Amino acid sequence: MHKVAIVGTGYVGLVTGASLSDFGLRIICVDNDLKKIENLKKGIIPIYELGLDLIVERNLYYKRLKFTTDIKKAIEQCNVIFICVGTPSATDGSADLNYVEQVARDIGKYMNGYRVVVNKSTVPVGTGQKVKALIEEELKKRSASYVFDVVSNPEFLREGSSVYDFLHPDRVVVGAESQRAIDIMKQVYSVLYLNETPFILTNIETAEMIKYASNAFLAMKITFINEMANLCERVGANVLDVSKAMGRDGRISPKFLHPGPGYGGSCFPKDTLALVNTGRKFGAPITLVEQTVVANDNQKKLMVKKIEDNMGNLDGKKLAILGVSFKPNTDDMRDAPSVTIINELYNKGVKFKVYDPVAMDEAKIIFKHMEEGILYCKDEYEAISESNGVVIITEWNQFRYLDLNRIKDLLTEPYFFDFRNIYRRDTMEEQGFKYIGIGQ
Ligand SMILES: NC(=O)c1ccc[n+]([C@@H]2O[C@H](COP(=O)([O-])OP(=O)(O)OC[C@H]3O[C@@H](n4cnc5c(N)ncnc54)[C@H](O)[C@@H]3O)[C@@H](O)[C@H]2O)c1
Repeated sequence: MHKVAIVGTGYVGLVTGASLSDFGLRIICVDNDLKKIENLKKGIIPIYELGLDLIVERNLYYKRLKFTTDIKKAIEQCNVIFICVGTPSATDGSADLNYVEQVARDIGKYMNGYRVVVNKSTVPVGTGQKVKALIEEELKKRSASYVFDVVSNPEFLREGSSVYDFLHPDRVVVGAESQRAIDIMKQVYSVLYLNETPFILTNIETAEMIKYASNAFLAMKITFINEMANLCERVGANVLDVSKAMGRDGRISPKFLHPGPGYGGSCFPKDTLALVNTGRKFGAPITLVEQTVVANDNQKKLMVKKIEDNMGNLDGKKLAILGVSFKPNTDDMRDAPSVTIINELYNKGVKFKVYDPVAMDEAKIIFKHMEEGILYCKDEYEAISESNGVVIITEWNQFRYLDLNRIKDLLTEPYFFDFRNIYRRDTMEEQGFKYIGIGQ
């Protein structure tokens, strides 16, 4: 039976490790964050992800899942090693590969037999070959000559539903150069393989490109409907009907056609930038994605302008912010639109009362610099109480059925900024709100 090491126990690594252990495989999850590993050993999950705690608990109990900071031991004991470390943006927009390269070097230093090195981190085309070269370099340093294969196996899970996504992927992409590695990958994913999940077998470079092409396309689709929404506002059209009608076209599909305050999160912003960087580097610029990046930055800023255009001078105004995570069902605030919007409003003198169902701890870290100007509330109504307006930034389900009469009484002015279009303009105006959605 294969023994699998997962290096990097963040959103992707932890979900991958826990889910594979649930398939019955022996998994060792490695991280260099000691506190994270100590907590995980006790079953304390560092992230909010529905259902993950139960899977971790179950597999800790059956001893199929282990957590360690000892990467040497994990590499010595496991024949399949997944790299799941972060690949954040470097200052020039390219993907920072330091963490991936560090793990590749460790693999070369400690491997003691045949290994399949599976790159699950999102990495620019060419990284698989780089990983291979680094491992070879380390092997050479210690005059060792173990055989290994590098595989690209990008991950497509969505935070907020990552366990479900991992277990029900639309496809599993495997970029490899040897049949031996492909066979092992099929065995590792045997549960999905037997369920007839489509496996796309290709070379390493293509697998690396597939991930960026997919993410950039989705980012572009969101940005397209955002710009359509902005135009709808100018010409008296309603983007809700536009996107509904577009989505009925089977060639387009209704997904990712919801206008909002701009995409955010741990993937789209950095992956679009990285693809732009790769395109330029190889003299084949992806101009649509370049423009997507610019339009998305503008979209976030446009939200601030909408508030200012409606409320006038913002100095001293108090706003209730509902939702700060980059999307519902996660506590992740990396590159969340809320961060740009709140920071820009803060610079204009706004004070905040904030509520998010799970991201409050994260928000306290990110907005530490505005201690005086921000109050964290126990629920939506406390946030809205005595505020000049309410701003919905994240469409948590619980914000869809707010007690509107109560809100009306609690607000000092009836401004209602709904940046996720979860309410309808006509009904909100009938209720007496000054309602501002996106493209309605
Ligand atoms: N988060 C998502 O929704 C998602 C989806 C698909 C793909 N991805 C990609 O997967 C990769 C990981 O993303 P994430 O969101 O899980 O990141 P993350 O920041 O949540 O987790 C990365 C983990 O790696 C650990 N780490 C870094 N260097 C290490 C080392 N040398 N040894 C051991 N541990 C190390 C960090 O401590 C951290 O816990 C990224 O490339 C990302 O683009 C993410």
